[in-house]
Amino acid sequence: MTKAVYNDYRESAAYISERIGVTPDIAVILGSGLGEFAERLADSIVIPYREIPHFPTSTVSYQKGELVFGQLKYDDGQEKTVLAMNGRFHYYEGWEMWQTAYPIGVFKLLGIDKMIITNAAGGIGYNDEREIVPGDLVCVTDQIKLSPMSPMRGANIPEFGERFFDMQSVFDKELRELAKDCAKNRGYTLKEGVYAYMTGPQYETPAEIRALKLMGANLVGMSTVAEVIFAAQVGIKVLCISCVSNMAAGITGNPLTEQEVLDTAAMISERFKMLLSDVIHNI
Ligand code: HPA
Repeated sequence: MTKAVYNDYRESAAYISERIGVTPDIAVILGSGLGEFAERLADSIVIPYREIPHFPTSTVSYQKGELVFGQLKYDDGQEKTVLAMNGRFHYYEGWEMWQTAYPIGVFKLLGIDKMIITNAAGGIGYNDEREIVPGDLVCVTDQIKLSPMSPMRGANIPEFGERFFDMQSVFDKELRELAKDCAKNRGYTLKEGVYAYMTGPQYETPAEIRALKLMGANLVGMSTVAEVIFAAQVGIKVLCISCVSNMAAGITGNPLTEQEVLDTAAMISERFKMLLSDVIHNI
């Protein structure tokens, strides 16, 4: 499929803008098993992806695919508006890399300047006392894209940014500090780590995980990196939170299953929702 052009993004954004009426304070991409956060949004407007012009639409029936716009209301009277993606596009499903990042260009045109990207990830660890375990929430400090594909391959859209652009500050330092403070105030430590992307859909082999560890990765997953790259080009600040759903291949010797990923995500769902809600309160 040929790459989208600027006007496609504009038409997607115009449709969403007409439905929601304001520029959201923040966008959130909800990872596997983490969609429940969208239920916290009050007075919500739900927009299925298939209704949005040019949005990639999934034919996979079990996958949720909708934008949920709504408000987070806090006890101190504050309200924040949030545009959440419930269901994202993965390369392993057959999407082109640029399609997996398509919503980011639309967010930019909606005037969004910050977003929280979440995912479920396998824990690789550190080899020291900061060891990662299933159930941990980890703030991503950097990424390694183990795929030759880039969402930016092909004609550059100059309205979005430069052909060649910097990737050093997309994981925004201030947002990371804020997230760590929010966790601390709730009595736990938000760990930090480097996220390595593997295309999937198969989980990794033990040898692959050993290789990733040597490269400096602490987490492994099958999403996120394309969205982060497009965010860097358009200048959207990113906070990325991984929910460690399992230890990566070869660490415990147990087989990896999607059920384990979903069960752990469900287990940490309350803490995860609280973290997002606290961070958004303070942006
Ligand atoms: N590997 C890749 N993706 C994942 C994993 C994993 O171990 N866990 C959750 N998503």
